[in-house]
Amino acid sequence: MFERKTRSERESELLRKGKRFMPSGPRNPTRSPEHAMIVKRARGSKIEDWSGNEYIDYLLGSGPMLLGHAHPAIVAAVRDALEDGSAYLLAGEACIELAEEMVAAVPCADKVYFQSTGTEATFFALRLARAFRKREKILKFEGGYHGMHDYALVSTQWTFAPADFPQPVANSAGIPQSVLNEVLVAPFNDIETTARIVEEHADELAAVIVEPMQRTIPPKDGFLSDLRELTKKHAIPLVFDEVVTGFRLAYGGAQEYYGVEPDVCALGKSISGGHPIGVLCGRQDIMDCAGPAKLMRGEGVLLSGTYSGNPISSVAALAAMRELKKAGVYEDLFRRGRRLMTALEQIASDCGVPALVSGEPPAFDLWFTDGKLMNFRDTMRCDGRRQGRFAELLMDRGVIKAHEKFFVSMAHSDEDIDATIEAARSAMQALVAEGA
Ligand SMILES: Cc1ncc(COP(=O)(O)O)c(C=O)c1O
Repeated sequence: MFERKTRSERESELLRKGKRFMPSGPRNPTRSPEHAMIVKRARGSKIEDWSGNEYIDYLLGSGPMLLGHAHPAIVAAVRDALEDGSAYLLAGEACIELAEEMVAAVPCADKVYFQSTGTEATFFALRLARAFRKREKILKFEGGYHGMHDYALVSTQWTFAPADFPQPVANSAGIPQSVLNEVLVAPFNDIETTARIVEEHADELAAVIVEPMQRTIPPKDGFLSDLRELTKKHAIPLVFDEVVTGFRLAYGGAQEYYGVEPDVCALGKSISGGHPIGVLCGRQDIMDCAGPAKLMRGEGVLLSGTYSGNPISSVAALAAMRELKKAGVYEDLFRRGRRLMTALEQIASDCGVPALVSGEPPAFDLWFTDGKLMNFRDTMRCDGRRQGRFAELLMDRGVIKAHEKFFVSMAHSDEDIDATIEAARSAMQALVAEGA
């Protein structure tokens, strides 16, 4: 039985210093200060704090640790590579091999360009689309998250007061009105409203960007293929943000899993075992907007970054991809994820708590609602307070999850899943007992 240890002096000191020197303090796995922690190390499916608590980790660094923390093959590859230098700006062998592997893995990829984060990948995807289409507006979906740049931090999951479609809502101070003027917002899983907005603005739109599974809301049947048809009809590049779904839902990402191919795709997280990476890939004619012919005429898209294609992230990604190609890896991931999804829904039902599990087996969450979950506004009707409290009660029982997500890794064993189910049952009973 897990019992959380009292906070050590060292952890208290680190938390104090974090608050003193960082504007928003150290990141907390839940909303309660009582659960604040500083990580000491993470291995496989476990994460440990400075007070000696070891948790089963479904936060997984917000997704990248698909193979689990400190996977031996990735650690070995990185250790070897470090001897040969860690940033050249110029391409090395691993970067070229990774580009070849990416083109082979991702259905829409004719060419690739590397960055260091998913934020950069979606930012450059939109710049590329604007240059290709010679238009400026982009359409995104309410509740979808595409990183921290100004075009992306609009009408995301952190929207408290949604506006009428297609008006955007800035989710941060400091986003210029001029950027907001270029963003249109549509409801996910609602092709009729989306089509109306696209038809009305077709001549101004540079791109439509979508998370193929938006947070933990899967696309309803036909939504992605209809969106594909709609954008094709108007020759508007369709951008899939696969920063979460890439290599997680399938080796070829959501485009393989759901069978719909975009024009451009942004990836990151799961491919490099926790080493900073972003990948922009797509159709040859669009990617060629960043090619030498256009650049020499001063008409090209500039894509650059000091750490783009760096050898450490590249060898880590190559090592991860070798692991992900092994037989049975995704089958095991899905089997374990599905077991946990089913158990969570059963536990809620046994305890008489209205809730549903939404997502796909490698990434999902338990939402406290007696309704359906098709879009962001449905999530607003869920009981967020209960969801937050459930996460705290889980942590008291040795399980950490992401805010609004369980990420499952290939390192989670059947025993981890058993222990999580037991913790979840006890946490749900405690939630009911508290009257929360
Ligand atoms: C779908 C999606 N896109 C983009 C990003 C941004 O990636 P990064 O945090 O690496 O900048 C994230 C990060 O959570 C994401 O979930």
